[in-house]
Amino acid sequence: MKIEESRELSSLTTFGVASTAAHYTKVTTESELIEALHFADTMSLRAQILGGGSNLLFKDDFSGLIIHIANTGILWLKGEHGQNPRVIVSAGENWHSLVTSAVKKGFYGLENLALIPGTVGAAPIQNIGAYGAEIKDYIIEVKVFDLLKQKWRILTAKECEFAYRDSLFKRLEINPYIIWSVTLELETSWIPNLAHKDLFDVFSKKEPTANEVFIEVCKIRRKKLPDPLVIGNAGSFFKNPLISTDNFEELKIRFPYLKCYSTEYSDLVKVSAAWLLDEAGWKGKKRGSAAVYDHHALILVNNGGATGKDILLLAQDMRDSILTTYGITLEPEVKII
Ligand code: EPU
Repeated sequence: MKIEESRELSSLTTFGVASTAAHYTKVTTESELIEALHFADTMSLRAQILGGGSNLLFKDDFSGLIIHIANTGILWLKGEHGQNPRVIVSAGENWHSLVTSAVKKGFYGLENLALIPGTVGAAPIQNIGAYGAEIKDYIIEVKVFDLLKQKWRILTAKECEFAYRDSLFKRLEINPYIIWSVTLELETSWIPNLAHKDLFDVFSKKEPTANEVFIEVCKIRRKKLPDPLVIGNAGSFFKNPLISTDNFEELKIRFPYLKCYSTEYSDLVKVSAAWLLDEAGWKGKKRGSAAVYDHHALILVNNGGATGKDILLLAQDMRDSILTTYGITLEPEVKII
């Protein structure tokens, strides 16, 4: 295991903001991970796990140890006797590459989650979701290193307590679990999930193949969302807020075009943060080099040279405006360090 000192982090996060980590190491084996944790412990350093860096924003330099999870390997298990196929994926694998290979191999279910940036290990943390699908519906179990018990453990999907953009890993104030691999159960015979309007509109006449859905999701995302390799961003910056049905009915009087989406809770509905922000005029607004993306009001971008603080100040102004206009508090989806 090699420890680098004063490592620049801008190329390791999709926001691309400048920040320096006092210590950095990339781990590819279980023993390297244990060694890195031991190093942090001995030196009394805060350890921060890094995957694809697509949901992190460093507001300052980081004085601890960045542990970059970079283990690779995918085990494809064809289902026997009519059972569904499974795949065991190392945390350091790229999520979109996994989705691409799965569609090619006839392991279906993940098409709607194409082109989500980041690694497989990060995917369960915020229960990634898009176009009516969520990873929680495919996860069987997750292999983790438990920092409290100091041992490797398997957590079942139930133990991960998944919810909308949320999980046990995100909810605990100090997450003691380091995700090392994820087991997914996929399908060979397949029913397209066209619940999202964007997909329904395209495929309302003819039932698509999994590959056609995959291609369409990639097309929609490329049109709507900025490519982090071209413009720094971390996808949706805020979660879609959940509000009470009563609150929604009151708001609907003032904002007749406000739509809502049902949730797993009978008295709560989800409203679109993008719509609220768009309606409040945030699209394209700038604060120095930090800006709201021109084509999607939920996406904050780094137009070049923005600092973590610039992005956070812009995000704070957006939150304040949504609270004043609608009485709704937006919560960041991105993890701020
Ligand atoms: N809308 C606006 N203005 C905008 C953008 C969107 O009014 O600037 C409206 C749209 O017309 C639509 C609604 O807002 O009626 C929802 O928009 P969209 O379908 O783009 O979805 P979203 O709620 O903004 C969520 C996820 C995305 C995911 C999409 C598609 C969250 C926080 N975000 O976005 O996930 O790709 O749905 O399913 O749940 C991510 O997490 O990084 C991410 C991009």
